[in-house]
Amino acid sequence: AELDSFAPRILNWFDDYGRHDLPWQQHKTDTPNPYIVWLSEVMLQQTQVTTVIPYFKRFIASFPTVQDLANAEWDSIAEHWAGLGYYARARNLHKGAKQLVETINETGDFPQTVEGWEAISGVGQSTAGAIVAMGLHGYGVICDGNVKRVITRWAGIDGDITKSATNKELWALAERLTPIEDSGHFAQAMMDMGATLCTRRNPNCSQCPIEADCIARHEGKQESYPIKAKKKPK
Ligand code: ADE
Repeated sequence: AELDSFAPRILNWFDDYGRHDLPWQQHKTDTPNPYIVWLSEVMLQQTQVTTVIPYFKRFIASFPTVQDLANAEWDSIAEHWAGLGYYARARNLHKGAKQLVETINETGDFPQTVEGWEAISGVGQSTAGAIVAMGLHGYGVICDGNVKRVITRWAGIDGDITKSATNKELWALAERLTPIEDSGHFAQAMMDMGATLCTRRNPNCSQCPIEADCIARHEGKQESYPIKAKKKPK
């Protein structure tokens, strides 16, 4: 497969067909706001974009800065979260805001590295990569469910993605594919690919910029990827 042309093909597709007007996007500004990207990424962890948008807008209107969120009463945060589900995310958000304010008071700024963000409550490796890439315009790699679906299909990776060896392989490939110069656009592009073309069912392969060397497409087995061991019945 064509490793070096992967990112250019994805980025070209993103220019023409990607989502450029999501309310949390920071690509048009020279001074990106990591608070906004952090908040939106946590909301998007288990919830679809169209559902998140109105919640995100109300959240930002009421808590425009991380200090506002850290100082808010839990009941007020819970009210803003009601309906989004997975309340642990909101608890982590409140705790995370307090941790971030502490860091800002100590260092004068938000964490600047993937490791720094991973230390914040509720922020895993992929969310940390997304925040650094899109919220700080630094170099960050994401490998969430969407990315795993795209790259297991494209590379024909047939290991069980719930196994740590497969997970390692997927992260290594995601790192290899992520361009140094443009990791923020690449991250958004891969999420858009997974959400709009390389969908779980009925992927729209004829519109896909990496169709030509996609192994799953050649095999005619797109929907067989990613391979996930069925949970054993209890
Ligand atoms: N899912 C997680 N992060 C996302 C983002 N930034 N845009 C669209 N979907 C997402």
